[in-house]
Amino acid sequence: MAYETILVDIADGIATVTLNRPEVLNALNGQVFNELGDVALELGADPSVQAVIITGGDKVFAAGADIKQMANLSAVDAAIGGRPSHRAFSLIETIPKPVIASIAGFALGGGCELTLVCDVRIAADSAQFGLPEIKLGILPGAGGTQRLPRLIGAGKAKELIFSGDFINADEALRVGLVNKVVPADQLREETLKMAKRFAARGAVALRLAKSAIDEGLRMDLEAGIQYEHKCFSLLFATVDQKEGMRAFIEKRPPDFKGQ
Ligand code: HXC
Repeated sequence: MAYETILVDIADGIATVTLNRPEVLNALNGQVFNELGDVALELGADPSVQAVIITGGDKVFAAGADIKQMANLSAVDAAIGGRPSHRAFSLIETIPKPVIASIAGFALGGGCELTLVCDVRIAADSAQFGLPEIKLGILPGAGGTQRLPRLIGAGKAKELIFSGDFINADEALRVGLVNKVVPADQLREETLKMAKRFAARGAVALRLAKSAIDEGLRMDLEAGIQYEHKCFSLLFATVDQKEGMRAFIEKRPPDFKGQ
């Protein structure tokens, strides 16, 4: 599919989606959301893709939803106009493969919320995170009030959302917003390294592990444990389970087929 606001590159089983509106610090307009939703569907269904990286390049991740596009919306426009962002974020969150946010520079508002629908976040030491919507008279409307407290706890999430203040990469690491901080010039390499580590595992086991975690977070503990048990048991029907255990016993690396 041809995209105008994002770049898509697939190499060695790793797909990289790069936001590409540098003139407005990768602000997310309706077209970006539509294209992100479409690419999530495409990459999720592409058997040659084993892991996905979402990035804004080496200068900025994204400075949020496009304020110029939002400024004169009516409440009805905002309700209807919100659908592309919800569609995009829900489709990214449910890509049945590992999705890594690779973040340099600003990740603000909807940009920060985009990182929250990824499975893990790697930040360059140049990264800055914030939910400045409160300073615009609104609130984080692409899942930020829901996903951020689930990730870092309600107290810290409220401090960020109520103040609109930015935090740097080290603080983001300290509060658990990102998994790892790396020097800016090593961001691409470190992200690829992590993506390849995930991609080397069995694709069905990865898919079910992601599902067990994400679906489980929406259930009470007992229902989650039962769901986990179904996913676990199902994996004994796969070629990869036989291969993984045989390889261990034969003291050699496994050769997973994704089946
Ligand atoms: C539209 C934006 C933008 C945005 C930056 N630009 N952020 N345009 N929407 N969110 C544009 C600027 O207007 C400017 O274009 C160019 O990008 C460079 O930005 P500057 O402000 O000149 O850069 P700088 O001085 O370095 O400041 C960087 C910044 C600042 C601190 C990131 O741009 C900023 O505060 N941006 C807004 C951040 C924000 O409030 N995000 C939350 C949005 S609400 P021109 O043409 O003027 O030179 C949101 C809701 C999510 O995300 C809900 C989803 C439905």
